[in-house]
Amino acid sequence: MSRRLFWPAIVSALALLLALGLPPLSGQGRTFATAKSCARCHGSYTKAWKASVHSKATARPLFQAILKQGMEQSPEVVKDMCVMCHAPGAALNKVTDPKSTDYTMGVQCSICHQIESVGMPMGNGSYQVCADGLARGLLLYPRAPHRVKYSALHDEAKLCGSCHQLKNMAGACLQGTGAEWAGSMAGKQGMSCQRCHMRTYVGSAARRAPRRDDLHKHGWPGSTVRAMRQKALKLELKATKEGTQVRAEVKVTNVGAAHSVPSGMGPRYVALQVAVLDAQGQELKSDERRYGRKLMTADGKMAMPWNATKSVSNAIGCGQTREEQFAFKLPAAAQPARVQAKLMYHWAPPEMIKDLQLTGEVDTPALMASALADL
Ligand code: HEC
Ligand code: HEC
Ligand code: HEC
Ligand code: HEC
Ligand code: HEC
Repeated sequence: MSRRLFWPAIVSALALLLALGLPPLSGQGRTFATAKSCARCHGSYTKAWKASVHSKATARPLFQAILKQGMEQSPEVVKDMCVMCHAPGAALNKVTDPKSTDYTMGVQCSICHQIESVGMPMGNGSYQVCADGLARGLLLYPRAPHRVKYSALHDEAKLCGSCHQLKNMAGACLQGTGAEWAGSMAGKQGMSCQRCHMRTYVGSAARRAPRRDDLHKHGWPGSTVRAMRQKALKLELKATKEGTQVRAEVKVTNVGAAHSVPSGMGPRYVALQVAVLDAQGQELKSDERRYGRKLMTADGKMAMPWNATKSVSNAIGCGQTREEQFAFKLPAAAQPARVQAKLMYHWAPPEMIKDLQLTGEVDTPALMASALADL
């Protein structure tokens, strides 16, 4: 390096180290480094993370409403439980102030990238964070201005399963994504969550870093992203008419997800709605089937995460097909022309949404697939 370049390089490297406050990721005892401190170099990652649900894990209205109700009804259970996965920085630092960045940042860079190991069985926050400031990843020969460590764990499903699998104290399964995946054909073949939720792309991992062809998208698209929702289920419909009777035969197959659909937090469900329409598109009759995990109290009533004693799931497993029959008896004067089937994603049961006094996005079911059959 020529002299002219050498000194400015040293000075800017020193300035960089000071500005970074090395080590850049560490927390535990100190506030965890926020995504802001990575943005300067990893701008595209910060942007993608910011738009993802991981950055909003303590901010989404359904979470806040359920947490509030839980704190009123069962504070001793809920107090430490929810932050374990929704704000791991707050859990590790025992931070209770909901305004601190350890809390508001949700699932952030400096948590995931300092996970050193995952206890088995995975779930209930079985990740071990080692706040040593080493950024863990699988890049070959990374040339980073901070310390890094090669971590094969970051390409494995159990990294994700440490949070994406949850039982409460009564042993009721509230979320089964990790176990559903492990039991699926895709899981047995070792197709990790990252393959579908962190697709690879060509680019550079940081400002001025070399071009690489195996980088990973940081948006974690799932049920909140239309393209992902519409990839999961295949819908087939056959309809027949005999006098005043209309019959529909519907097949729903999970072709796109390596876990059940829906997966994730208990109360969400997918509704299969089948309607008989006339030539003008007016609905004459309709019916519905629901798929999902129901949380229940011992006497079979709808339960919340803290008072559920059992959970039963009829969500559609990876590769599974559900065949449903519908029969509609119409008035003699009705003129049915076609049958429509729709699969709708519901964020929570209407009773729960009403009870929590929520409106907006959570109260607006989203389309997953639709089909029409003429009579
Ligand atoms: C083992 C980790 C873990 C714990 C503990 C946990 N959650 Fe979650 N929670 C998750 C994961 C992972 C998701 C994302 C899956 C999904 O999309 O449903 C989630 C999703 C949710 C959602 C749906 C979010 C939305 O906006 O649609 C709500 C609500 C929620 N959790 C509430 C809670 C509450 C309240 C507690 C404490 C009683 C809690 N969770 C404890 C891991 C956890
Ligand atoms: C001053 C610039 C800079 C800042 C700030 C920065 N990084 Fe990096 N980081 C890099 C560069 C450069 C690389 C190497 C990229 C390459 O070789 O392709 C890298 C690599 C990484 C890797 C990959 C490690 C591996 O071995 O696979 C991770 C993970 C990472 N950084 C996380 C972070 C996080 C989290 C933050 C914020 C807390 C952060 N970085 C802040 C520049 C930076
Ligand atoms: C939910 C956990 C999680 C969060 C949050 C997260 N990452 Fe990652 N990151 C990963 C995983 C897992 C990989 C490796 C994927 C693989 O190799 O299969 C990765 C890879 C990387 C890499 C290596 C290059 C690449 O694309 O593979 C960099 C750099 C990186 N992350 C930076 C960041 C930054 C910056 C943030 C915050 C803005 C962040 N990550 C947030 C899980 C996370
Ligand atoms: C520290 C805990 C934690 C880890 C580790 C973690 N997640 Fe999450 N994840 C969450 C929480 C909490 C949510 C729910 C946020 C919300 O909706 O409020 C979530 C939500 C999601 C969603 C739902 C997105 C949607 O649109 O519905 C997907 C997909 C996801 N995570 C994938 C992953 C993958 C893949 C990994 C591993 C690379 C991973 N997560 C690691 C805690 C975690
Ligand atoms: C074969 C691709 C594939 C793999 C592998 C995969 N997923 Fe998914 N995942 C999907 C699709 C497609 C959706 C959207 C449909 C949906 O919302 O269920 C989804 C949705 C989700 C959701 C949103 C919750 C919901 O309603 O279903 C979470 C959380 C999630 N995945 C986590 C994971 C985790 C954790 C793993 C690994 C243990 C994983 N996924 C493996 C394809 C995959």
